[in-house]
Amino acid sequence: MSTKFIQAFSNLKLNLEYSFSMSNSPAFNLYSADISKKAKQLLSKMTLDEKLGQLSQVCSPGAHIPDYLAESIRQGRISSVINEVDLNVNNALQRIAVEETRLGIPLLIGRDVIHGFKTIFPIPLGQAATWSPEIVEKGARIAAEESSKAGVNWTFAPMIDIARDPRWGRIAESLGEDPHLCSILGAAMVKGFQTDDLSSIGSIAACAKHFAGYGASESGRDYNTANIPENELRNVYLPPFHQAAKVGAASFMASFSDLNGVPATGNRWLLKQVLREEWNYQGVLVSDWESIKELQVHGLSANEKDSAYLAAKAGVDMEMASTCYIDNMAALIAEHQIDEAEVDQMVLNILQMKFALGLFENPFTDPQTLPELVNPSNRNAAKDAAQKSCVLLHNRSRFEQRPVLPIDRESTKRIAVIGPLANDGYEQLGTWIFDGEEKHSVTCLAGLEALANDSTGIVFEPVFANSRDRDTQHFDKALDLVNSADVAIVYLGEESILSGEAHSRANIDLPGAQPELIDYLSQSNTPIVLVVLAGRPLILESLLDKVDSILYAWHPGTMGGLAIAELLFGEASPSGKLPVSFPRVLGQIPIYYAQKNSGRPASEDKYVYIDDVPERAPQTSLGMAATHLDTHFSPLYPFGFGLSYARFEYHEVCISHSEIKLGSAFEVSLIVENKSDVDADEIVQLYIRDLVGSVTRPVKELKGFKRVTVKANSSVPVTFKMHTDDLAFYDICNQLNAESGDFLLGVGADSSLELNIPFKLVK
Ligand code: BGC
Repeated sequence: MSTKFIQAFSNLKLNLEYSFSMSNSPAFNLYSADISKKAKQLLSKMTLDEKLGQLSQVCSPGAHIPDYLAESIRQGRISSVINEVDLNVNNALQRIAVEETRLGIPLLIGRDVIHGFKTIFPIPLGQAATWSPEIVEKGARIAAEESSKAGVNWTFAPMIDIARDPRWGRIAESLGEDPHLCSILGAAMVKGFQTDDLSSIGSIAACAKHFAGYGASESGRDYNTANIPENELRNVYLPPFHQAAKVGAASFMASFSDLNGVPATGNRWLLKQVLREEWNYQGVLVSDWESIKELQVHGLSANEKDSAYLAAKAGVDMEMASTCYIDNMAALIAEHQIDEAEVDQMVLNILQMKFALGLFENPFTDPQTLPELVNPSNRNAAKDAAQKSCVLLHNRSRFEQRPVLPIDRESTKRIAVIGPLANDGYEQLGTWIFDGEEKHSVTCLAGLEALANDSTGIVFEPVFANSRDRDTQHFDKALDLVNSADVAIVYLGEESILSGEAHSRANIDLPGAQPELIDYLSQSNTPIVLVVLAGRPLILESLLDKVDSILYAWHPGTMGGLAIAELLFGEASPSGKLPVSFPRVLGQIPIYYAQKNSGRPASEDKYVYIDDVPERAPQTSLGMAATHLDTHFSPLYPFGFGLSYARFEYHEVCISHSEIKLGSAFEVSLIVENKSDVDADEIVQLYIRDLVGSVTRPVKELKGFKRVTVKANSSVPVTFKMHTDDLAFYDICNQLNAESGDFLLGVGADSSLELNIPFKLVK
């Protein structure tokens, strides 16, 4: 793809195309000259106390505004309120800020609107499985409009932490393991929240978080330390953030995790050198919840004053929840530890965002100007997203060589619906749904009932009270129902609370007695369709010979039940693909497709399984390759994987030049043929390998993807427009360069494809 990104924004103009660039970013202006001028003029009128007030974000105490809060706002000691979604309260807060303070500076009203406000879309990991920037943008757009109606003007999304450890609860909130996919989808989310004009009605400021490395917390335990070598940080963890900065994300959030010994919130190298200087980022940098105060808990500072000093020096503009800045900054300035000019810059960043949001002109929200919440069009968009996020992992009868899905409506007279997540409108919504409501959900059972033929009997047994339940007393009843039916659909997985922030798991099997339930039901000859609703990849290998199909639905949101039923009945073909690799066993973690080759790569001919190891085998007889003895070296399902009801073939994959001059464009083209009788979407994926680098390169890297609709028994041409800049990486000197030399390329259906097209980059 070309190095296309806009170098000058008149007023937060976003890059309209879903292109991605790894190239070095020349300076660009996030805000127009007019906005900067207004912000500077205002700043020049502010007292030091008023400036310090602009650095402070406080949590709303609830439905009425207590005197202390009103008074703090009046005194100009508060810049932003978080977690208030009562429109009347928000308008009243704004009124105090605008009408009862000396300078009338409006408030930023922040809320975590992560995958929907009232109309809940699939969890971000599910949205990533759509591989569709359009769907992701639409989801963010609806979330922005709905939350704006409550007076919210700032969300803390997208979360673009690269996540390669499914034990980490926040993988649910992520866009998966791959820097390219995450960069494109993260940018789409920014665009959806902000539009091209942040000041327009229904637009809210985005916040790229958590900068940076939070996804690499050791052992997937939340808030844990991340140790990431600089080169890996730059090549894997930072690109989505750099992209978010380039497309104009109005704010960034510093992670509260420790990065290589310096917690991100106080990490001057990361926040000052990389973000502000190298990337020239001019937006607001907000701390995470109390992350300035926690610098002391980390052991980076001795007290809150030092914490304030370190965060300010690193360039954190606004403090979320704790009060280290407001309590200590005046003293730090008086003692000449912090220069007032540094505070001016922090305030300026915040004022510019307030001007860009149009808050000075329109501080109040008129709900009539915004669409109804959860309106039919929003519900339909959520259903479309959920449907396209589901990944069909397995579809072969236990008894015959044939697929079990889709279910034939005519011949199916009785369906057994089993499992605790089958009829639970709350649990299907997933993590981070502060404002989502169960009452809007279409459950899986309701979806089936809506779409099944009138003559089809549907019988239901939840078996468990929740996904962690170990009580087996209803197993026999469930088995009877399954035996009495033509097909059983079993909805298992994780409740919402088992993933998300602070909800990491050391075991990622189906929780409770759900695996035993599958064992038990597999006695039946009735086909078993397992639908998994979960916030992370779960370990599924032991279930494969006990069920006939597995549809992975993540936590699909408000309309999940209907979307899943459409797929089960074949109204649409499953088309989601995994944004993250699925391990066979826990001990494989971290397992991701873009691994390094190592000096002794694993291969089938070098792989010895533990049961086949001869007794007293000599030390050097076992292949000497990068494998585990007790599981295969591949993941259970690779990144990019997903089955379809259609059958696709790829033809005529070719590259425009076999030798490409550095600095030039090239194209990769191919034909995708649908050799089946069903219309379906396919996600076409382009991977490369840079065979020799000044630092070793991954065995495969995703460099392009396209979701295409291919009608039954027809073909479509697909072209990827590429540029050698797309092959750039941070080299041995941590400089971004594409290096000349030999490459391999392949285009296909998932990351297990063979790279069989050689090409060269030449000087
Ligand atoms: C999370 C952030 C979130 C913030 C505000 C923190 O605990 O890490 O992602 O935006 O809370 O709710």
